[in-house]
This record gives sequence, C-alpha cells and structure tokens, in this order.
Amino acid sequence: MSEPVSRIARSLESATPFVAPEALERQGFQIHLRLGANESAFGASPAAIEAMSRAATVTHWYNDPESWELREAVGAREQVPPETVVVGPGIDGLLSLICRVVLDPGSSVVTTKGSYPTFTYAARGVGAVVHEVPYSAEKVDLGGLAEAARNYGARLVYVANPDNPSGSWQCAEELAKLRAELPSDTLLVLDEAYREYAPGPGTRTPLASTIRLRTFSKAHGMAGARIGYALAEPWFSVQADKIRMHFEVNSIAQAGALASVEDPEWVKSVASRTAEGVKVVHGLCESLGLGSLDTHTNFVLVDLGSPARANRMLREMLELGVFLRKPGLPPLDRYVRVTVGLPDQMSEFGDILRRWIESGARE
Ligand SMILES: Cc1ncc(COP(=O)(O)O)c(C=O)c1O
Repeated sequence: MSEPVSRIARSLESATPFVAPEALERQGFQIHLRLGANESAFGASPAAIEAMSRAATVTHWYNDPESWELREAVGAREQVPPETVVVGPGIDGLLSLICRVVLDPGSSVVTTKGSYPTFTYAARGVGAVVHEVPYSAEKVDLGGLAEAARNYGARLVYVANPDNPSGSWQCAEELAKLRAELPSDTLLVLDEAYREYAPGPGTRTPLASTIRLRTFSKAHGMAGARIGYALAEPWFSVQADKIRMHFEVNSIAQAGALASVEDPEWVKSVASRTAEGVKVVHGLCESLGLGSLDTHTNFVLVDLGSPARANRMLREMLELGVFLRKPGLPPLDRYVRVTVGLPDQMSEFGDILRRWIESGARE
C-alpha cells in the first residue's frame, strides 16, 4: 500500500528543528542546568501562576475561541483596537498561520540564513520557496533582505528583532527604512520575541503591511503554556479566522497571559535581572579570555574561536549536565549560545566553564 502523503510533505527532508532537553535525557544525559532554549529562568508572574491555577479548575469548559479578554487587554496596552490583535499558540504557531494565510505553493519568501528557523520550516511546509540572505558582520542585513525581496517578488520577509541567534537589534528608523524599500505587496513579519529585553520603548506606530509578533514565552516566563499574539492590520484577522484552529489557545494559557499583561512590573523586573545576568556572562567570558557578542536578548553568544571547538564545548557541557545550544551555520557557528539563568545557576555555570577551560579543553 502506498502512503497517502502530500507532494509537499514528500518533497521535504525529515527534520527535528529543536532537540529538547527531555529528548537528551531520554538518550541518557542528566541535565541539571537548562541554559539552552532562551526561556526565562525567573518564571511567570505570581499573579499569572495564580490565574493559571484558578483556570485549571474549570478546564471542563471550552476556552474562549476568540481570546477576547486578552485581546482587549493587549489592545489597551498597545493602543490598538482588539480586532488587530490575533492570539495564537506562541510565535511558532502564528508563523505557521501567517504562512497558511499568505502563501501559495511556489510563493517566494525571504529570511536571514541561520536566523530563527521556524519561519523557514513553516514556509516550506506550505510549499513556498525560501530565499536566504547571509548575516552581514554578524547582524541581520536589512538592505540585503530588501534587495532579495524585490528580486524574488517575495510575499513575506521575516526579520527577528532582536534576532536569535545573533542577538543583534535594529531601531525603529532602520525598520521603517526596510519597510519603505520593500514592494508594497510584500508583508514584513517582525518577530519581536525578545522585545522586552531591547532598548527603548519600541515603536507604537503600526507600520503598514507589517505584522509584529510577541510572545509570553520569554520575559513573561510562560514558554510551556504556548501563547503569543500578532499585531496586524484588520484584514489579517479576517482571513486568519477562515483557516485558524479556533480552540488551539487553551484557557489556562489565556488566563495566565491576561494576568501577566496586567502585571507589567513583573516583566520589567525580569528584564532588569536578565540584563544583570547578561553582564555576568560577558564578565565571565572576559575573565576566561573568551570573546562574546553584544546582545539585546536574554542570551549571549560566547566565542570559542572555531566551529570545531564550539561543537566540542557543547558536547562536553552536555556530558557535564549543562544544556546549551549553538548556531549551526557560518558566520556564527564558532559561538555557543548561553541563556541567562538565575544568579546561582550563572555562578555554577561559571565554575563549570572555568574548569573546562583550565583543563586545557580550549586547546
Ligand atoms: C526569535 C524567536 N521567535 C520565536 C520563538 C518562539 O516563540 P514561541 O515560544 O512564542 O513560539 C523563539 C524561541 O526561542 C525565538 O527565538
């Protein structure tokens, strides 16, 4: 019997974009320091935890498929109508939704080679053709993205800002310039997963033909709850309602996200404690003679000098119970990415890394 598989699925190679610490434990590694997935070690706001606990008692009811209370609360904070807020199961889920709303098989999209992979994954999943622009000086190349979008007639251009894994960030003026250089029928997708860690208040002015994506997975500390939102022009919500999974954002996540939006002090304190942690990692690198890249996120890229040494460090750290990740492609593949943890986790990691370096593993 032949397997009933679509042409698109058949054309793709099998891939596991993210190997989770749970999978590594199933392989026999014992992980006691999770510093690999850019989650917030500071956890969710106590108000969000309480709201989620309360919501857990009524999970026999279906959730609100319109996430209306959350959209109103986000709209009020962002000063936009709730109709322009689309809630989804994290940015990853929203990227998949955007691709399904906007792309046809064969459509072109443009992204940065080696940037956060879910966009590429989602675009290929609907049969789109992905054009990748290399980083320029370890930063997203906005001019290069605009040129590629014009050359290929791209329907979507993806920019993570701040970017993962480079940690680089572009200001509102640079993004407005990018938007102006794109064809008017190209939609700009701004993935702002790390927005809360970036400088300044961010732009409130909605750019035309632009979707901004936000998540509760990072500074809000709710990665496992799977919830995020898009800020988009009204047409997107109208079209998305035709094809989205209406009940996919569960009631516990909705309740936690609402409480977290209403507790901005928590997110601010997470951002400032994270900035302290970033300084600790930079200081550690300096004391060990390792370079590190500036960042506007909750992680730091540590320079191991060569891809081989970086791969070796990643493997040996895993054997020592430390879960890290690293960029797989040049020019960033000589770096290992360290997510900021709690102060005692940072000092434990510092001790482990120091011993690793002193044991000559650097050679
Ligand atoms: C740039 C970027 N976008 C999106 C995500 C995932 O966000 P979510 O958990 O909301 O799907 C991540 C997670 O690491 C990320 O680095």
